[in-house]
Amino acid sequence: MGSVNSLIRKNVRDLKPYSSARDEYEGESAVFLDANENPYFPPLNRYPDPRQRALKIKISDMRSVNQDNIFLGNGSDEAIDLLIRAFCEPGRDNIVSIDPSYGMYEVAASINGVEYRKVPLKDDFGLDTLAIREGSDSNTRIIFLCSPNNPTGNSFGYADINGILKWFGGILVVDEAYIDFSDKPGFLPEIDLREKLVVLQTLSKAWGRAGIRLGMAFGNEDIIRVMNKIKPPYNINSLTIREAMNTLEKEDEKNKRVEQIIKTRNKLSGKLAELPMVRRIYPSDANFLLVQVDDADAVYNHLSANNIIVRNRSQARGCENCIRITIGTGKEVELLLEALNNYRTETN
Ligand SMILES: Cc1ncc(COP(=O)(O)O)c(C=O)c1O
Repeated sequence: MGSVNSLIRKNVRDLKPYSSARDEYEGESAVFLDANENPYFPPLNRYPDPRQRALKIKISDMRSVNQDNIFLGNGSDEAIDLLIRAFCEPGRDNIVSIDPSYGMYEVAASINGVEYRKVPLKDDFGLDTLAIREGSDSNTRIIFLCSPNNPTGNSFGYADINGILKWFGGILVVDEAYIDFSDKPGFLPEIDLREKLVVLQTLSKAWGRAGIRLGMAFGNEDIIRVMNKIKPPYNINSLTIREAMNTLEKEDEKNKRVEQIIKTRNKLSGKLAELPMVRRIYPSDANFLLVQVDDADAVYNHLSANNIIVRNRSQARGCENCIRITIGTGKEVELLLEALNNYRTETN
């Protein structure tokens, strides 16, 4: 496979994108009579900056990444969808990913009519790089790897991912939604060196801003350019831009909360290990624990009846009788443990 541009679908390459007058205007204060906005009710009467320049400057400074290497989406979910739309020809191309992993890759592939191939993780949830290679062919346009992986919680080794980058000619997407909870280095520093590597991050997890919907894709200019070309013009709204600017000012606060969540995770892990229905607690680099219990349906129903909602992941490959527990506040974790202790007495 050739350059990034040669991987782009022909209809997308040939597309003349929608362009607003605001796309072409660089200044701040002008008489704006171009977009049929209401002149009253400022400031939200105006469409947001379609290129999100101010926010990108901030992210660029924080992450030491050039602005041309940043795409901002309505959550990382938008970036996932746009990557598929840009690079995968429906009915011809395919996507390879690991199983189990984050469910939206498959959903986005299906919506776009693109074959989705799942390569099982090893029994210890490690990457089976040989099987990924065998599962790929000349029509594989994207490989999605989630690290730390959802729902298993583990990260994949640098050497494994690096190995895939060596032979794979398509776009390798490393989804780092949970990277802040891990002490392993992420792949962001690699994007300058690897022209077909995309790293996804989000404000939804460590930054505590799932409600504003802001996802980030970092990659080579040609990849970012095509994502910008096909995105809805004003995909990031003004309120999100404003809140994201404020949020990114508070990195120390974010780091403190991350530390607290990791402490709570480790404490919860210790307490769960003492419970008789718990069979196994998988190591986690994320803000959740995957826990194997004696009967996941029963535990899930018991917790639901106590108004505690966890995720039953029993149907996921290799996750028989597993529930995924997001790390909450100290109080929430206490309530969870209390309910689990009652489960023990009620079922004994
Ligand atoms: C691995 C992974 N990627 C992406 C997302 C979604 O991120 P966003 O909220 O930025 O769309 C999630 C959400 O749970 C996730 O687990």
